[in-house]
Amino acid sequence: MTATDSAFVRAALGQPVPHVPVWFMRQAGRSLPEYRALRAGNSMLDACRDPDLITEITLQPVRRHGVDAAIFFSDIVVPLVALGVDIEIVPGVGPVVAHPVRTLGDVEMLGELDGLGELTAARVPFVTAAVRGLVAELGDTPLIGFAGAPFTLASYLIEGGPSRDHARTKALMHGDPGLWHALAGRLAAIAAAFLRVQVSAGAAAVQLFDSWAGALSAADYERYVLPHSRAALADVAAAAVSAVPVASAVPVVPVADGAPGVPRIHFGVGTGELLALLRAAGAEVVGVDWRLPLAEAARRIGPGAAVQGNLDPALLLADWPVIEREVRRIVAEGRAVPGGHIFNLGHGVLPQTDPDVLTRVVELVHSL
Ligand code: CP3
Repeated sequence: MTATDSAFVRAALGQPVPHVPVWFMRQAGRSLPEYRALRAGNSMLDACRDPDLITEITLQPVRRHGVDAAIFFSDIVVPLVALGVDIEIVPGVGPVVAHPVRTLGDVEMLGELDGLGELTAARVPFVTAAVRGLVAELGDTPLIGFAGAPFTLASYLIEGGPSRDHARTKALMHGDPGLWHALAGRLAAIAAAFLRVQVSAGAAAVQLFDSWAGALSAADYERYVLPHSRAALADVAAAAVSAVPVASAVPVVPVADGAPGVPRIHFGVGTGELLALLRAAGAEVVGVDWRLPLAEAARRIGPGAAVQGNLDPALLLADWPVIEREVRRIVAEGRAVPGGHIFNLGHGVLPQTDPDVLTRVVELVHSL
């Protein structure tokens, strides 16, 4: 077996699998005591720039839980920081932006910082180094690369930090569409480049996180966001083509839009009304939160796509019988989705989660 022939990649491409693959968003993080020990004394962004720390933190949940995929340890704001944007990740809060983006001049700055219009591999050498090392260490276990989608990144930049209502972002989108499209287009290019660096270094799949897209109506998503997320994902398809060696011994699996075997997962929270559009943006797999049963989500997404999800992360704090019942229900529902199912949570692991419960969930999913 190879990473490209793993249960995770096969499920993502709608192929038969030996068992239901499972991984967890935020599997590398504060739920693990070994993570907290490694992170003591360094900032999140410093950890994200240290290839040895990235490698070790990425591997921790794979060793401990036996999950079917690793996710690259980084953050959605890392490429922005690499371009010189002044952002801090404040513990318990999230990314905080020193100078929020509110004018065309601010947007133009994003392309001109350090005299560079583009994020290149040279701006994030620690990413290439860590991905290469991880791919070698992981062997048959696939590595998922990721980026933040234009809307979610734009929300942090415009609001200046986490936001409940995304009010300034929506006001800018509607009030100054030209400025909005300039910003979202710039962020699409940055997201695409960040994904391309990871795929070129050996990531077997990618996930585009549009965590906060669920705040938008379908009409607004389609008009203001979808074209930019589509550009970010389409670029990955092109990068995957060029990353495949000509005389590769690995069978190249053609999928929709021509991405050869590097499946693209598209995820957001509260996106029940947007699922078909997330798929239409160019994904082989659509991530689903806990608000819809997988069968209904798959019906909305339409044929030909796999689904990923969708255990409510809060339920991991309940007693085991509750968790077991929910895991069994979700696996049964996933089995009925013709396009394939990857077991995951509906959003990230909560820091207070008992890691032994995560291990037990992996064992249960694999046994079913
Ligand atoms: O295991 C994994 O999933 C990979 C690592 C990962 C992190 N951030 C590590 C992290 C991934 C994929 C992300 C993406 C990310 N970052 C998203 C999209 C995913 C999602 O959760 O919706 C978003 C919205 C962010 C922005 C962000 N960064 C937030 C909201 C936070 C949490 C702030 C807090 O302290 O609660 C961060 C910081 C962050 N990113 C942590 C981790 C492990 C916690 C920082 C710490 O451990 O000190």
